[in-house]
Parts: sequence; structure tokens; C-alpha cells
Amino acid sequence: MSTPSLLILAGDGIGPEVMAEVRRIIDWYGAKRDLPFDVSEGLVGGCSYDAHGTPLTDETMARAQEVDAVLLGAVGGPAYDNLDFSVKPERGLLRLRKEMDLYANLRPAQCFDALADFSSLKRDVVAGLDIMIVRELTSGIYFGEPRGIIQEGNERVGINTQRYTESEIERVARSAFELARRRGNKVCSMEKANVMESGVLWREVVQKIGDTEYPDVELSHMYADAGAMQLCRWPKQFDVIVTDNLFGDLLSDAAAMLTGSLGMLPSASLGAPMENGRPKALYEPVHGSAPDITGQGKANPIACILSFAMALRYSFDKGNEADRLEKAVEKVLADGLRTADLLGEDGATPVTTSEMGDAILAALDASL
Ligand code: IPM
Ligand code: MG
Repeated sequence: MSTPSLLILAGDGIGPEVMAEVRRIIDWYGAKRDLPFDVSEGLVGGCSYDAHGTPLTDETMARAQEVDAVLLGAVGGPAYDNLDFSVKPERGLLRLRKEMDLYANLRPAQCFDALADFSSLKRDVVAGLDIMIVRELTSGIYFGEPRGIIQEGNERVGINTQRYTESEIERVARSAFELARRRGNKVCSMEKANVMESGVLWREVVQKIGDTEYPDVELSHMYADAGAMQLCRWPKQFDVIVTDNLFGDLLSDAAAMLTGSLGMLPSASLGAPMENGRPKALYEPVHGSAPDITGQGKANPIACILSFAMALRYSFDKGNEADRLEKAVEKVLADGLRTADLLGEDGATPVTTSEMGDAILAALDASL
């Protein structure tokens, strides 16, 4: 097979600084594991708007469609808050998701033992937590038509539309069931079938896919509000959660905080297989651009590094190498190394973004 290709879109805020550490890890795999990548770079978000007047150029969009995987840092920042909706940094990311048709967004919430005390929940509620939220990413209220702000009589009305087709629900349900088979074999589907027709259809279709194609996987359903409550009460009851775009946005932020820091969590957004059998894919940290700490060496590169681990696993079929990288991260955390987002314990060793990168590289070397 030819050298796998990666497009790096570091984006705004802390995106470039955390991505710099990922670049070193990518180079390490080329040098030490005979796993070279053909890396190209581009702009997305506010930096693309500054350079080209658009948060994503057609050329970059086309490149994203060609490569084996896209790695994205973060988009957005206060400088862009007042831009028109159509050119806001976030539109660049939404365009990538939509045009690449990345319908299954995998957001693991895993609590590293060394960090269990950082959670706002009690240690025994979160220690050992390992759940996966599968969020539908290309439809629902984020993209439904009609949308907009219209004039009605003497006032304005803001409109968005929640809309799901059966096939959109089917394909993301299959992604969730497939993942569950490789994990704890349980899926919990969340919607609000008590108030929304789209929720009624969602529940019916997920149940049908479960009954007909995955009878071996345990399936349950929950209203999304109750699901949010259960996530905070006893999150370890879950294995895979499958839900729509908006509920998934909210539930995954809540799940993220169970683990102590948003600076730890990776994500994968996957679409249909390409000709070479690899899924269309984009990997990004769950955290945002954190403009308040940009350029100070305070950012935690781990979420972005673990996103690359997900790329190794889901795009390049290198589960062993992904394990190696995840173990290296676990090792440095167990050794007490902490970026600014994780300070506060006795005996912790404060490190900068690049020192965290150094330590993970050293742990990788030690793994050989
Ligand atoms: C996320 C973010 C995005 C979303 C924004 C940046 C468009 O919150 O990936 O969760 O709402 O999907
Ligand atoms: Mg979000």
C-alpha cells in the first residue's frame, strides 16, 4: 500500500501548539515504527478567514476529500465573534463534516486512573470509566431546513428544523452496534420520543436495526434528559451511547467533564469507506481553541495526541500502535506530569505543552 496521507488543519488558538506536539509523534512513528505518513497542511477557521476571507477554501475542502485522514486542532476565537454566520470559523468545521459526510462522531469518555480526583464527581463514580458516545454529525437540527431568522408581523422568528431520515438513523445506529461488539456489547440510544416525532422515528429505527442485525447486542433506550442525569449519577452503567447531533453535542460535553479535563478527550468523525477501504475520517480534540491560554505553553496536547491514536486505530488499522501511544500517555500521567489544566495536586510536576510532548516521546521510546 502507498504511504498513507494526512492533512493537518491546526486551526486557531491553541490548535497550532497542540498540533506541533502531534507532528513530533507522527514523525516518531515514521522513524521508529516504520510507519511514515505523507503529511500536508492547510488552514481552517479564523486563520483561513484572515488569509482568504473564508473559513475553508474549496482547495482545502478538495484536499480533505482526497487524503486518508484529516487531523484538526481547533477553530474559533473572540476576534471572529461578530462575523456573519456564513463565514464564522465554525462554518469551516461544519462544512468539512457535511461534505465529507462524516456521520458517526465517536467521542470516548475515559477516566485515566491518575486523574480520577480531577473529576467533579466522586472517585468511585468515575474511576475506570470507559464509555463511548456515538453522535450523529451530519444531520438533525444543525443542518435541517427551513432555518433562519424571518420577519413575522412586527417581530422576528428564529427557526431551525430537526429532521432525520430513516437511512441517516440506520447508518449511525450500525456504527454504534459495530463498536459495541468490540467493547462491552451494550448500546443505549437517547432521544426525546416523548415530545419529538424525530425521536419516535429514531427509537423505532434503532430498535429495528438492533432486532434484525445485532440481536446479540444489548439495546436500551432513554430520554436524553434522563440520560444526562444518569451520566452524572452512575456513568459506568453505559458502554456505547448513540444519539443525535444536538443531544450528542450536549451529552458529550457532560461526559467529558466526568473525566476531569476537557484537555484529555479525543474524537473521531467517520463516514463511509473510500475506495481503499478506509473510512472517510477526521480526528480532532473535543476541546476548543482556548484563546485565553493561547501561546503560553499551558495547553494540554493530550486530547490532540489521543486523536492521532484514534486515527491509528480507525483509519490505519494499527490498533497495537494506538495502544502503545495511549499507554505512553497513561505512563506520563501516572508519573505525575501535569499541564496547567490539571494542576492542583500535591506532588504533581507542572509541565508546558512541549514538555508534555517530550515526556510522551520518551515513554514511546521506552516502549520499544
Ligand atoms: C463540537 C463543537 C461544535 C459543534 C462547534 C464548534 C461547531 O461544539 O464539536 O462539539 O457544535 O458541533
Ligand atoms: Mg460541542
